[in-house]
Amino acid sequence: MRAKIIGTGSYVPHSVLTNSDLERSVDTSDQWITERTGIRSRHIASPGEGSSALGTKAAASALSCAHLDQADVDLIIVATCTPDMPFPSTACLIQRNLGATAAVAFDVSAACSGFLFALSIADHYIRAETYRNVLVVGTEVMSSVTDSTDRTTCILFGDGAGAAVVQGVDGENGILSNHLHSNGQRWDLICVPGGGSQQPLSETVLNERLNFIKMRGSATFKLAVKMMEQAAREALSAHHLTIDDIDIFIPHQANSRIIEATAKRLQLPMERVVMNIGQYGNTSAASIPLALDEMVRANRIKDGTRVLLVAFGSGLTWASTLIRW
Ligand code: ACO
Repeated sequence: MRAKIIGTGSYVPHSVLTNSDLERSVDTSDQWITERTGIRSRHIASPGEGSSALGTKAAASALSCAHLDQADVDLIIVATCTPDMPFPSTACLIQRNLGATAAVAFDVSAACSGFLFALSIADHYIRAETYRNVLVVGTEVMSSVTDSTDRTTCILFGDGAGAAVVQGVDGENGILSNHLHSNGQRWDLICVPGGGSQQPLSETVLNERLNFIKMRGSATFKLAVKMMEQAAREALSAHHLTIDDIDIFIPHQANSRIIEATAKRLQLPMERVVMNIGQYGNTSAASIPLALDEMVRANRIKDGTRVLLVAFGSGLTWASTLIRW
């Protein structure tokens, strides 16, 4: 029994924030943002449009791609670091929106690595034959935790959602392996320090803008390249493969220079590397399923294609998933 992705979907909000828009609100330039990050625009959710709204649309699209009905879904796992509210889970809200009444639903918190952590849980449940049809969603409204006055972070993030329907099937194709890692020692490299249980919302939290992302950019950059390279090598070596055996490499979309540096270290030609950060910015847990859906719909991923997904994010967390489609 293997867990196979039988349908994908994605959704981004209509409103687009361009680099020129940002030039008008903070001391930055289109040239700086494009050269240093590769980002040209990002999609931004409307007021009141939470992660469950975006995730529901991506999930519905994935179910339709998989030719499955909401009643067929046994489990919904949502990766998000921007839930609609502390509780209930965003997964329960998506279950309600879809009318997937038979499904168990819960969230996973692993920031930008969240989708791969969730996919790994789906894979394990399916191979244990606990559940057959699992909906895995990565959805984020990063604009809700982005400080619009901080030029070092407000240029980076965007909103969006991606989803995959994973089904237990017999045969050789499907998820071949997952490798997950965490290092809580470096929790403070990227965090939202306030607004949680340790420092609940207060005047101080609001005045010091602690309810927004704080990031040590260049330290994060170096670790992202190192860990994504390590995660890719770990997946390859577990299957006695070389980088030449990988048809499509989908890294987390945080910065085009991180992606290019990782590919260079792996000696992987950019033709096999997926990069859509220019259009969406860093959508955290949504970035990998968004890119995956684009590749599936562009017919770049077909039966037998070897796909390597690699993520890095706050926690710190990093992970890989190797798939024979
Ligand atoms: N416009 C113009 N200048 C800027 C901007 C801006 N938007 N932002 C920073 N600068 C300035 C800085 O102030 C600094 O100026 P100084 O030299 O006078 O002090 C200079 O540009 C260089 O700053 P650096 O931070 O060294 O720039 P760097 O090349 O590292 O790029 C960036 C910054 C884009 C944030 C990069 O470090 C990065 O992408 N880091 C990784 C982010 C990441 O991977 N996140 C993943 C996880 S996210 C999650 O888990 C939710």
